Amino acid sequence: MTAFEIRPIAGSLGAELHGLDLREPLAPATIDEIDRALCDHLVIFFPEQELDADQHLAFSRALGEVFTEHPPYLPTLEDHPEVVVLSGRAGGRADLWHTDITINPRPPKGSILYMKQAPAFGGDTMWANLYLAYDALSEPMKRYLGELTAVHDIRGSGGAVLVERSDETASPYSPLEEKPGPGVLTSAEHPVVRTHPVTGKQCLFVNPTFTSHIRHVSRAESNAILGYLYAHMVQPEFICRRRWSQGDVGIWDNRCTMHYAIADYGDADRVIHRTTLVGDVPA
Ligand code: SIN
Repeated sequence: MTAFEIRPIAGSLGAELHGLDLREPLAPATIDEIDRALCDHLVIFFPEQELDADQHLAFSRALGEVFTEHPPYLPTLEDHPEVVVLSGRAGGRADLWHTDITINPRPPKGSILYMKQAPAFGGDTMWANLYLAYDALSEPMKRYLGELTAVHDIRGSGGAVLVERSDETASPYSPLEEKPGPGVLTSAEHPVVRTHPVTGKQCLFVNPTFTSHIRHVSRAESNAILGYLYAHMVQPEFICRRRWSQGDVGIWDNRCTMHYAIADYGDADRVIHRTTLVGDVPA
């Protein structure tokens, strides 16, 4: 008997977990069950929570080591530098498909979003299941991709972005013009197909925001392969979509998903607080 009820929200990925108050300290067995639900459903939601930054952090720490090396394009709370704040009105719109911080040699295990202020309508987030995207490829294509690695860079995809975005200037996810601060990791190389460290399943691990190019092939070949994969990865059958309400908490497994926050709420505000969990070196 689990401490919560699981209600899937789509056939591909995503589930709501009901019955927990995340302000309360959770038993280790419940944390294990949440971790298992995350591995099974890839993105999980806890509706109607009420968390301050300390409670958000305490819940995050129960799930893993909290990430502190936020890149310079992500604003954080002044008194809680572990907590990223994205306000839609201030340009904090993650309206590009991405997997968080793959420019780091150890990209995050996952992120924990608290919906501080939801617009009356719009501002949904979509996630793509990158296991399903991998599984749907032909065997020869899987073998070919299995030999490749890709460079992920803070300056972005250098021409490989074939998925349109709504506003080139507003998002903190735009390629960085200024030099990043000292000590900030800005580039990494990862396998194009990674194996999830817990489930042992394989998934695609490239994304249109940070993957700069595939190594050891020409720029034209790299753009063609990535362009094909990006179109393939966002098929509706691989995707779930969350209609947010204020107080929702969402956690995604960053090792096998990518996501896109839809910037369709005009002048309304949408404010999220996000913590991020330290991950491992993709293999
Ligand atoms: C993010 O990409 O971390 C933000 C997702 C969202 O705003 O829904």
